[in-house]
Amino acid sequence: VRTAAVIPAAGRGVRLGPGTPKALRTLGGTPMLVHAVRAMAASRAVTHIVVVAPPDGPDEVRRLLDAHPLADRTELTVVPGGTTRQESVRLGLAALPDGIDVVLVHDAARPLVPVETVDAVIAAVRGGAPAVVPALPLADTVKQVEPRPQGTPEPVVGTPERALLRAVQTPQGFDLPTLRKAHEVVVEGEGATDDAGLVERLGEGVVLVPGHEEAFKVTRPLDLVLAEAVLARRRA
Ligand code: C5P
Repeated sequence: VRTAAVIPAAGRGVRLGPGTPKALRTLGGTPMLVHAVRAMAASRAVTHIVVVAPPDGPDEVRRLLDAHPLADRTELTVVPGGTTRQESVRLGLAALPDGIDVVLVHDAARPLVPVETVDAVIAAVRGGAPAVVPALPLADTVKQVEPRPQGTPEPVVGTPERALLRAVQTPQGFDLPTLRKAHEVVVEGEGATDDAGLVERLGEGVVLVPGHEEAFKVTRPLDLVLAEAVLARRRA
């Protein structure tokens, strides 16, 4: 079984505030994307990584990654991405070499996922699950609302039972033919915010394995503070 990882890194990261594209922001002096690539390469199972770069920046990303070489066993390809995450992942899948059976899709915005989580996802796919997602229980209660423009109070429609909810992370792992089919069949704009959501729409089973606190997504400025603290603790 050969395993590859696709890392969508084409987002602008507007919620982090103004500045460089999110994946190129540094954590502990190293670009977030380099951390994410290393996190996938840390798994001995991963032989190939496709990084999906901003549409106008594949050369810059290639240079950046060349400046931070990986262990010899991991091959790296860089391709330009699209305007949505779904399109970026589809372009990444199209760039995979022949002979890959299992693919991970990992957000560049989750630079600190531990290798144990990566390996647990791979093991579950190799064990026969077509789609595997790392997930954690929620700390916050979640409300469903009737959306209103910002600044207007939003009416609450319902409160799903928290014990039945999970927050999902990446890397999400797939049997490659299943994920390819999901990306062919599910139309863009149907609101899937993760790859497993596309597979669910095919009617295929998706299972969860335990996620990790350090696999959090760096989205807002406070997340950068937390990521720096996690890195400092690892280096201590
Ligand atoms: O915006 P969000 O945080 O959900 O993005 C998740 C991941 O998808 C990020 O790593 C981002 O770079 C990537 N992305 C992409 N192409 C887009 C939009 C987002 O590769 N057009």
